[in-house]
Amino acid sequence: MAKKANLLVVDDELIVRDSLDKWFREEGYDVAVAESAQDALTKMAAKRFDLALVDIKMPGTDGVELQRRMREIDPEMLVIIMTGYASVETAIAALKNGAYDYVSKPFDPDDIAHSVHNALSHKRAEQENVRLRETVASVVRPQEIVGQSAAMVRVFEAIQTVGPTDATVLITGESGTGKELCARAIHAASPRHYNPLVVIHCGALAETLLESELFGHEKGAFTGAQYRKKGSFEVAEGGSVFLDEIGDISLKTQTDLLRVLQEREITRVGSTHPIQVDFRCIAATNKKLDQLIEEGRFRPDLFYRLNVFQIQLPALRDRKGDIPILVEHFVRKFSASMNKRINRVSPAAMALLDRYQWPGNVRELENAVERAMVVAQEPEIREEDLALRLPLAEHQPRTLEDIERAHILAVLEDCKGNQTIAAEILDIDRVTLHNKLKKYGWKRVTADAL
Ligand SMILES: Nc1ncnc2c1ncn2[C@@H]1O[C@H](COP(=O)(O)OP(=O)(O)OP(=O)(O)O)[C@@H](O)[C@H]1O
Ligand SMILES: [Mg+2]
Repeated sequence: MAKKANLLVVDDELIVRDSLDKWFREEGYDVAVAESAQDALTKMAAKRFDLALVDIKMPGTDGVELQRRMREIDPEMLVIIMTGYASVETAIAALKNGAYDYVSKPFDPDDIAHSVHNALSHKRAEQENVRLRETVASVVRPQEIVGQSAAMVRVFEAIQTVGPTDATVLITGESGTGKELCARAIHAASPRHYNPLVVIHCGALAETLLESELFGHEKGAFTGAQYRKKGSFEVAEGGSVFLDEIGDISLKTQTDLLRVLQEREITRVGSTHPIQVDFRCIAATNKKLDQLIEEGRFRPDLFYRLNVFQIQLPALRDRKGDIPILVEHFVRKFSASMNKRINRVSPAAMALLDRYQWPGNVRELENAVERAMVVAQEPEIREEDLALRLPLAEHQPRTLEDIERAHILAVLEDCKGNQTIAAEILDIDRVTLHNKLKKYGWKRVTADAL
């Protein structure tokens, strides 16, 4: 624990005061004791406490009344009520009055330590949330997504449409196409943006770790589980959960996840008690989920749950028209951080960027620009600054037919495979287009796209 929490123990019985005092000192807390309500109020006047453990039955002013007065003095202080078995009803009344929890006498030291620990970490999380919320609202703007190709315009429209709703979104696209950026934009466009966006990289965690990450765990649920831990769905309360690399999770976790999406409740690992959760789900994958389904590695019912609204991020090679503005965007970004004045890309360098196929998509382009800026001489990036190697075939002269084919396919892609519109843009008649497509063996792909 970074800062020692201050506890105040209020009980008229000496033995209870002494034993709690000893337990909590050993756990590393600062402890003060009070033998009556009056004593407690005097101590509170002199010092601020994080949490008070208050006996409900004391001569004179009892615990319930004391709790009320404590609240007037310090509404931030947490109160845990201690009660004998007989007075559970009074304890419930105390909870209604704002006590955090109650523990029954006789105590199990572990129980009471657990309750105190929980109350304090809950409070810390809440304070952290308030702080984060203020930061988010004042400084952090969602990162800019750059693009003006027809395919990216469709993505922006989709974000605008689905962002403000609560619909589950599935983002698909090759590695580096901007799936995480897109997820952040969706969250930012939603009324949930004051609450957290919790990102889980499903592929990076082993099955058991992923489960405890997603659903949380109880103390002692497995070796090393020293404390109860909230899972991502609980932490995201009121916000969104971004499940990245959803294609990588095991069938067992898929089953659990499906339940969470259906029931909107989670059960921590090591518990049987379900907890209601309020979140919006955004998932992403670079895998072909339909193929995984065919191979029996992905549950179709989970797929349908996730695939309520799908956003497909185009590969960079299919929207090469965006390369110049992306390059400009990254040059500006790195100029600031490297304090280097680069403001031009030579025509030869730009031609190379355009010919390259970008298997790593925008991330690869971003890295290439960064690398080039390190070695480039101000104010220009030249061809030799780019450590890009074109595959051999790329160097060979391309025929006119190659170029025509690429252009037709790009236009078709832009109009979602609609041949009538494509023919109009290309300024040829439909029959000519049809014949050319047949020659290029485009038929199968067109059928997919439609
Ligand atoms: N359209 C874009 N405009 C500006 N930056 C972008 C764009 N697309 C991607 N980027 C940048 O490229 C990098 C990779 O993006 P991101 O992490 O969102 O991709 P991803 O699809 O999640 O990749 P992966 O599948 O590898 O996790 C990030 O630095 C991101 O800021
Ligand atoms: Mg990603």
